[in-house]
Amino acid sequence: MMRIEGKMGCTKVRIDPAKLPQHIAIIMDGNGRWARRKFLTRIKGHEKGIDAVRNIVEACREMGIAYLTLYAFSVENWRRPASEVNALMRLLKNYLLKERDNLIKNEIRLQAIGDLDRLPVEVKETLFQVIEETKKGDKMTLILALSYGARWEIIKAALRMAHDLNTGIIQEKEVTPDLFSGYLTTSPYPDPDLLIRTSGELRLSNFLLWQLAYTELYITPTLWPDFTKDELFKAIEDYQKRERRFGMTSDQISGLHAKS
Ligand code: FPP
Repeated sequence: MMRIEGKMGCTKVRIDPAKLPQHIAIIMDGNGRWARRKFLTRIKGHEKGIDAVRNIVEACREMGIAYLTLYAFSVENWRRPASEVNALMRLLKNYLLKERDNLIKNEIRLQAIGDLDRLPVEVKETLFQVIEETKKGDKMTLILALSYGARWEIIKAALRMAHDLNTGIIQEKEVTPDLFSGYLTTSPYPDPDLLIRTSGELRLSNFLLWQLAYTELYITPTLWPDFTKDELFKAIEDYQKRERRFGMTSDQISGLHAKS
């Protein structure tokens, strides 16, 4: 298979297609700052953010990334001014309606995680419609985190597991991290291999706290609307240089590679 090449300024970026992350998760931050720097409204920043979403979905699909999770709206984002929340919901609905055919054509399956019942009814209906229409897509899974909060998700999972313990469906001695993962809304997907956060903030902001335990982190000062395909390639190149040890030693990891 050919190497994927991109450019960051004058620097060539090289990606090994055999070592791609299977699952990339992104905290898309900085739409507001991008807009402020250009003396535009925050909504314009979110609109530009959607263009970046399109480019990154396309790049991941072209490269062969199996899962892409985008943090599009956090449970804390409901606290923003109603005008901004309404605009984000409108943009989300428009994005879904506009992208539907493209997702089907490119065999991309849409999924969503989060407290989806809090979404306005017309957004929720559109979302479930597109999820249904794209369900046969088997080239990539695009997961939108909407009204999502990791602590909320962990509490929900703990309650479901407690119910199964109380009713004897499972026994205490069977409880392992893997079993608990099965109660999370992300249970159908592997944990992310790479987390990208734009706009330079060094925090997880209540995103996939359980699932990111061994994920490689890539933080860039670039604001989300300016995040290009080439910057994505650079993040993947950086990821490919890292050694993922999952708590083991370097020698153990080399031994595992030698056996496989
Ligand atoms: C963070 O920027 C971004 C958000 C809260 C929303 C992200 C939404 C989009 C990119 C558009 C909708 C997404 C999809 C998938 C249709 P911020 O507003 O927190 O920026 P700031 O920190 O600079 O103020």
